[in-house]
Amino acid sequence: MPLRDALMARRSVRQFSSRRFRLSDEADLQLLSDLLWTAWGYITPKRRSAPSSHNWQEIELWLLLPEGVFVYDAVGNRLVARSDDDLRAASGVQEYVATAPLHIVLVAEKSKVTGKTPQGVMETIFTDSGYICQNIYLFCASEGLATVSRAWIDRPALAGKLGLGPTQAITLVQTVGWKSEE
Ligand SMILES: Cc1cc2nc3c(=O)[nH]c(=O)nc-3n(C[C@H](O)[C@H](O)[C@H](O)COP(=O)(O)O)c2cc1C
Repeated sequence: MPLRDALMARRSVRQFSSRRFRLSDEADLQLLSDLLWTAWGYITPKRRSAPSSHNWQEIELWLLLPEGVFVYDAVGNRLVARSDDDLRAASGVQEYVATAPLHIVLVAEKSKVTGKTPQGVMETIFTDSGYICQNIYLFCASEGLATVSRAWIDRPALAGKLGLGPTQAITLVQTVGWKSEE
């Protein structure tokens, strides 16, 4: 889809149909792979689909699916399973999050952002996250998927459930699925 058309179609959607990403289905896996590559994949060994300050590349994508928690290994182009728990309901405080098919949690490794004040670190990780989220918005617009960025998150609760350490910080969550017809 031409960029202009993707921009025209881009919007936030908060009502999702019951359709899920079937991890046993090749077409759904390819869609997920394309989504993650567009979000934050490697184009060359150093350059990725989104910019990051100083090319620190401090953001990790954690996927919350009904099947469990996975981390996107962008180098290996694969998902690494972390747990079998369905943590979708813990990814936010709005009602739709419990049943939406996929949440992509952006987790920043703050120790990669050096020489900055604590406020500077936060500015950096949120700015870098924004580019990734916009990539997801445009991918979803071009593929007919529904998505919304979310900052309304109980971060301490979700970080606890994900087992994050003190140098890891959740910035945003991007919910992805198919729009409900209702
Ligand atoms: C940083 C950021 C945080 C957001 N947080 C939430 C959120 O927690 N929950 C939600 O439903 N929408 C959230 N949104 C979506 C905005 O409400 C939405 O982008 C805005 O209303 C404009 O609508 P549009 O995206 O359809 O143009 C967020 C958007 C951004 C960029």
